[in-house]
Amino acid sequence: MNPEDLLRRRLLQGGLSAASLLLTGCGDSTTPLNLPDAAGGAPRSPTTPRGVHLSWREDPLTSRTVTWFTDDPAAPAQRLQYGPMMPDMSEADAQRLPFADEVVADTSETPFVEALTHQATARDLPADLPLRYRVGSDAGWSPVRVIRPTPTGDDFRFVHFGDHGRTQDSRNVARAIRAAQPDFALLAGDLSYASGSSSLGPQEVWDAWFDLVEAELGAETILMTAAGNHENEGNNGVAYRNRMAMPTSTVSPDGTFYTFQLGRVQFIVSTGGAFATDGTLVTEILFLETQLARAALRRAAGEIDFIVVSQHFTIWTDQEGRGPANLTLVALQENIFVRYGVDLLAVGHDHIYQRSHPMGFGLRNPLGYVQITSGCGGVGIRGFEPRIQGWSAKALAEPLFVEYVVSRGRIDALTHGVDSLTGETRVVDTFTLERRGRESAGMAVQPVRDVAALHPDYDRLARRTLFRNRLLLANC
Ligand SMILES: [Fe+2]
Ligand SMILES: [Fe+2]
Repeated sequence: MNPEDLLRRRLLQGGLSAASLLLTGCGDSTTPLNLPDAAGGAPRSPTTPRGVHLSWREDPLTSRTVTWFTDDPAAPAQRLQYGPMMPDMSEADAQRLPFADEVVADTSETPFVEALTHQATARDLPADLPLRYRVGSDAGWSPVRVIRPTPTGDDFRFVHFGDHGRTQDSRNVARAIRAAQPDFALLAGDLSYASGSSSLGPQEVWDAWFDLVEAELGAETILMTAAGNHENEGNNGVAYRNRMAMPTSTVSPDGTFYTFQLGRVQFIVSTGGAFATDGTLVTEILFLETQLARAALRRAAGEIDFIVVSQHFTIWTDQEGRGPANLTLVALQENIFVRYGVDLLAVGHDHIYQRSHPMGFGLRNPLGYVQITSGCGGVGIRGFEPRIQGWSAKALAEPLFVEYVVSRGRIDALTHGVDSLTGETRVVDTFTLERRGRESAGMAVQPVRDVAALHPDYDRLARRTLFRNRLLLANC
């Protein structure tokens, strides 16, 4: 891409976006930011890395994967340079000293736009030292960044937010998350809203969002994501699959659904059907069944304490116009979550905050899962149905994110509201999850079911569930 084209794209990202409205598929109306360049405001060279963000594609304890973009197809091969931040290194040393290791990035064409996507993984990292790194080439390097080591014990912290976008609230929430210094951030879908209507094309929206992420969050914070309905733009999320680097497997080669463990928590991330037409939904349901069965067995054996599932879509909700539930997911997923004793379901999609009591099938159940809907990441806020269902423990509507403080056998959560004007935070909800008792954990050890058992008459099941809960709701 020549400099004129690059400047044109930057002008589109800046000048035009400030005057436009981002009308998302969810019907939100929010004003995108006129974002400064993450490198400091001046137009960058097309060979300079942009949109730098981090993830754990491999072992969270010993690796980090970096993803970034460049605009010049003729740029030199991109590299990740990295090494430990030694205790006696000053900040100036961190910037100027040579790096111990280097890896050449895997490079692919960024879908639908004249740019390149680069991904590289730093491996065999010392568990107890911060990592400093930069990406690029001699034609342009990113700033040197320093990131904290991943905790190796039982204690760690993560945050959960969803439905981010590019508004001032989006920026405030990202900035507050970075200030909280979590060990990783879980973004439960609807990242950039590239599938909404905008004066920008979808890929310019993605680029502008990654600029925001690099500037406010991603280049120093591990970002693990679930795909939402707004990731399903342009042929089943081709851009999302290319631009994010999540753990891959033989059943999910693009990492659209995956699992990883940190401390004594097993995380399982689902698409929830975001890419339902890509033909992998049956595979994914079997993945959920087998991974949750395995996790339940390990929990009962004392190897882990909690099973956390994250996806974009709520199962049960009181967002206005969407209550009482996503009945397709009630039929498709909830029986699996309840069977294997999922402890926490972290979701977005509905632009509200809602915390459930432990529940299953729309009813309070002490052996069920706690669903946290954290869909107020910045793109917009919605209202509630006139009547809140009996499983709901807390319902809020303001920009926020949830911080989970994990220790052995316990998760203490704090929900942080983020002021739209000042960006200041305050705790608006707290709750605690404790490890299941031995009997409850043992009940969740169940044999894995086959495809036939996992595919009942979903329509009939959904109708029955809705009918039953309407009756029971009247008595809550
Ligand atoms: Fe959504
Ligand atoms: Fe959304």
